[in-house]
Amino acid sequence: MFELLTEKVHDEGRQGEAFAPVIADVHTDKKFYIESYGCQMNFADSEIVASILHDHGFGATRNFEEADLILLNTCSIREKAEQTVRKRLSDLRKVKEHNPGALIGVLGCMAERLKSKFLEEEKLVDIVVGPDAYRTLPALITEAGTGQKAVNVLLSREETYSDISPIRLDSNGVTAFVSIMRGCNNMCAFCVVPFTRGRERSRDAYSIVEECRQLFERGYREVTLLGQNVDSYHWMSPDGNETITFAKLLELVAKVDPLLRVRFSTSHPKDITDEVLFTMARYDNICKYIHLPVQSGSNRILQLMNRTYTREWYMAKIDRIREIMPDCGISSDIIAGFCTETEEDHMDTLRLMEFSRYDYGYMFFYSERPGTLAARRYTDDVPEEVKKRRLDEIVKLQRQLSHESHMGDVGKVYQVLIEGDSKKSTNDWMGRNTQNKVVVFPKPAASKKGDYVDVRIDVCTGGTLIGTAVGTISSKLILTENSN
Ligand code: 5AD
Ligand code: SF4
Repeated sequence: MFELLTEKVHDEGRQGEAFAPVIADVHTDKKFYIESYGCQMNFADSEIVASILHDHGFGATRNFEEADLILLNTCSIREKAEQTVRKRLSDLRKVKEHNPGALIGVLGCMAERLKSKFLEEEKLVDIVVGPDAYRTLPALITEAGTGQKAVNVLLSREETYSDISPIRLDSNGVTAFVSIMRGCNNMCAFCVVPFTRGRERSRDAYSIVEECRQLFERGYREVTLLGQNVDSYHWMSPDGNETITFAKLLELVAKVDPLLRVRFSTSHPKDITDEVLFTMARYDNICKYIHLPVQSGSNRILQLMNRTYTREWYMAKIDRIREIMPDCGISSDIIAGFCTETEEDHMDTLRLMEFSRYDYGYMFFYSERPGTLAARRYTDDVPEEVKKRRLDEIVKLQRQLSHESHMGDVGKVYQVLIEGDSKKSTNDWMGRNTQNKVVVFPKPAASKKGDYVDVRIDVCTGGTLIGTAVGTISSKLILTENSN
């Protein structure tokens, strides 16, 4: 499904990916297997879980049949995500038949949403752990080992796992996710996240910078700073003398090394500031790409969704981004068929997409989630076939916008960070340009993963730019702070 990159939600290609650590596991006689679903935060959390388990004598395996502990890190954002996990659990039934001693644990948002109900509904499950309780996993495993079911779904106002050094799982050794905050205070009416991940809290800025520095020293060349709403990142030093905003944090990470690219996700249109935009413009190594979910183009629907901005406000943000960074890539999340949505509201969404000229779109039809504001206040009254037809129109328009955007790149030269072999051929590299577009090109002599290469774009197919390396391979490229 990679060719659908321009229309993807989370990285669907990675859903359910089994992880194994890059580092070799010595000294372990117990093995865990972990699969992750949902957003990048979940993938980053699995790396924290791996670190906690590693410190307690567990090594990772990619083969669930040899695991003593099988973990599914789950997502609740849409009903389909939950169904995928349920189906996976039924597959795991066979494993328990072969190896009755193996423990099965459910982590993440579904664990938090369903709590001990999970144990009643899925008899197979031994352990249920919410996103703020991963430190207690070793104790829960011990408890479950005695034949009792073990649950910890307590949410915390402080937990950021700041001191835990994640074990990079299945990494390409070039790009890594770094979690900078947890939870969300926004209460968008459709969204289950505030209930499954709790209140927003920001991680110690210096532990973030240190993690990025260590990644750079180990050869990583790109970090993506992760949070549900990165623009509301706000950290105060314990003595109260220093306050770090997201713009300041971006700058601190950009200064780790000019060769370390910095990305971030997700931004909220109401919170992204000029200060962030100017910081992005000032540093060449902060990637020119913003994921700015709009959700709907209709003011009436935006209000029902509790997004706290209007389409005019959103359009002004797009203009501002383009004014400060004319070459910035922009993508969005869009929901089709939210409660009471009319054809006119839907047309407003299509028109706003045209205005924004998104490079990528992540598009969904509305899926009512229990406990959310929308589930409590509104009726999910747009018929499924209407939702699907509107989604289809949104997808078609986005396909066209993505194509236009990619066609506009033909003939340009971009600096590309090599992430690894292309999917189709080991003779080609795959990397990304600053706008986050995937670029594939024949390997020049003496080039390697983690190098920066200037690539001229020759053609585009689907969501991929195809090019040819030109100029030097700049692993020692000097990127400097811009003067503007
Ligand atoms: N139904 C459909 N899409 C949803 N999203 C969040 N909640 C729902 C829901 N209940 C989408 C939003 C969000 C993205 C991560 O998932 O567009 O930005
Ligand atoms: Fe959900 Fe809105 Fe928070 Fe995003 S900003 S996680 S959509 S509540």
